[in-house]
Amino acid sequence: MKWGILATGTIAEKFADTVNHMEQEDETLIACASRNLEHGKAFASKYGIPKVYGSYAQMMTDSEVDAVYIATPNSLHYENCRMCLEAGKHVLCEKPFTLSTEQAQELFDLAEELYELAEEKGLFIMEAFWIRFLPAYDKLRAMLRDGVIGEVKRITSQFGFTVEGDRRERKFKSELGGGALLDIGIYNLGFFHMITEAAPEGFQSEVHMTEYGTDDYSEVELEYPGGCSAHCIQAIGKKLERHAKIEGTKGDILMDDFQHLQEFTVQLKDGSSYLVKEPFKVNGFEYEIVETSRCVSCGLNTSDRYTKEDCLTILRLMDDIRESWDMTFEGEEK
Ligand SMILES: NC(=O)c1ccc[n+]([C@@H]2O[C@H](COP(=O)([O-])OP(=O)(O)OC[C@H]3O[C@@H](n4cnc5c(N)ncnc54)[C@H](OP(=O)(O)O)[C@@H]3O)[C@@H](O)[C@H]2O)c1
Repeated sequence: MKWGILATGTIAEKFADTVNHMEQEDETLIACASRNLEHGKAFASKYGIPKVYGSYAQMMTDSEVDAVYIATPNSLHYENCRMCLEAGKHVLCEKPFTLSTEQAQELFDLAEELYELAEEKGLFIMEAFWIRFLPAYDKLRAMLRDGVIGEVKRITSQFGFTVEGDRRERKFKSELGGGALLDIGIYNLGFFHMITEAAPEGFQSEVHMTEYGTDDYSEVELEYPGGCSAHCIQAIGKKLERHAKIEGTKGDILMDDFQHLQEFTVQLKDGSSYLVKEPFKVNGFEYEIVETSRCVSCGLNTSDRYTKEDCLTILRLMDDIRESWDMTFEGEEK
């Protein structure tokens, strides 16, 4: 497919690099758009992108662009997705898919509205929740379905990193939809959802807030149907190895990096253990790109591997957690 990249920040770089390794899959970058034409030109020259636009809206007029990857701050996702759909472009939008700047309830209405618009226009839209498509997770989920570790009873994961300067401010700014929950807690909660395939029945949490009015550290304990519990930590400002563990009645699965999952250890209660390896072809992003192209070629409006309901379940949970913290984003009503 012919891709346009909207924004030229940190993650846009990773996406551009990934597509440039996917010529064999017929994926090409043909345009990028930046708020700043000079930034756009530098980005285009670094990644060999033939066309550059000095505004996001200008790229919408390019009829050669089939699909747009949106890599703007969280608070812009809704309006950027909407603009792309209205211009007839398929959309792969960075996580979190949307956030409310109005009322908490509007979050879901906005996300629903985007899905409806995609359907009406015969276009595809998906949140770029890339870990969902990693081959190691396909393998892991198949093993869980086969009962390799028995019934899953407990899941734990943690994710934390440090960041300084302007990037720190962008990560926390309330008007940009900042904070650790939406930035990286989504990985923990999305991981739990992949394993349980359910919404939790309840949760308890502790949070620490920053001077920006958004969260930099939280721990959440969740209860899932069928007697499975889970615990996660998300932190910006504290480095935490991305370890995760799934405990079952017959054994455990241990992951050193559940985000970039390429291998995991199965430890059975009979004392045996083994390593399962499923390495990336490029860097892990290629699978969400392949999924987008597959869905477009099948004429799907949403992915049947990471469904609209999956995405909304995780958004709803983050909204409930934020509500329990009394945390609203700038412009959002309490
Ligand atoms: N999938 C992943 O692994 C992953 C990792 C990190 C981040 N993300 C997600 O990707 C999105 C972007 O994150 P990032 O880390 O790439 O952010 P970033 O480095 O701050 O880049 C964001 C880009 O958005 C554009 N932008 C538009 N309006 C802006 C504003 N008001 N303030 C700042 N930038 C603005 C800018 O590009 P132009 O100036 O060129 O327009 C900027 O370079 C977020 O939604 C984040 O959650 C995903």
